[in-house]
Amino acid sequence: MKLIISMMVFSLCSFSALAKNDIEAGRVKSASCVACHGMNGKVSVPMYPNLAGQNAMYLEQSLAAYKKGGRTGGQAEVMRAYVANLSDEDFSDLAAYYASLKP
Ligand code: HEC
Repeated sequence: MKLIISMMVFSLCSFSALAKNDIEAGRVKSASCVACHGMNGKVSVPMYPNLAGQNAMYLEQSLAAYKKGGRTGGQAEVMRAYVANLSDEDFSDLAAYYASLKP
């Protein structure tokens, strides 16, 4: 019984490990980002930052910082609205997706 439970716990853990940094999931979730950050993470309006090819860890931390209010000033409030309802998993998927794009 103990073995079965630990096997279940293990498979759940490995499933969630696989679910993180999911480029394809990130691509789907990026639909709400396209208007400002462009189709392939490259902007056509220069007041917005390009995201294509940026470091995944940096992107993930930036998104989390907007949500927690750690990034303020500039146009941070614009971003905050878009990340308010996203989870840490969304952040890592989005970061993996944008990091995978050609700069
Ligand atoms: C309404 C326009 C708009 C939308 C939609 C939007 N962003 Fe942004 N984003 C901005 C602006 C403006 C900034 C610069 C904010 C600042 O001054 O800190 C920014 C900054 C960022 C940064 C930090 C870039 C850097 O170089 O530090 C990331 C990462 C980011 N956005 C990701 C996203 C993601 C992912 C989405 C979709 C969930 C999204 N944004 C949706 C306008 C937008």
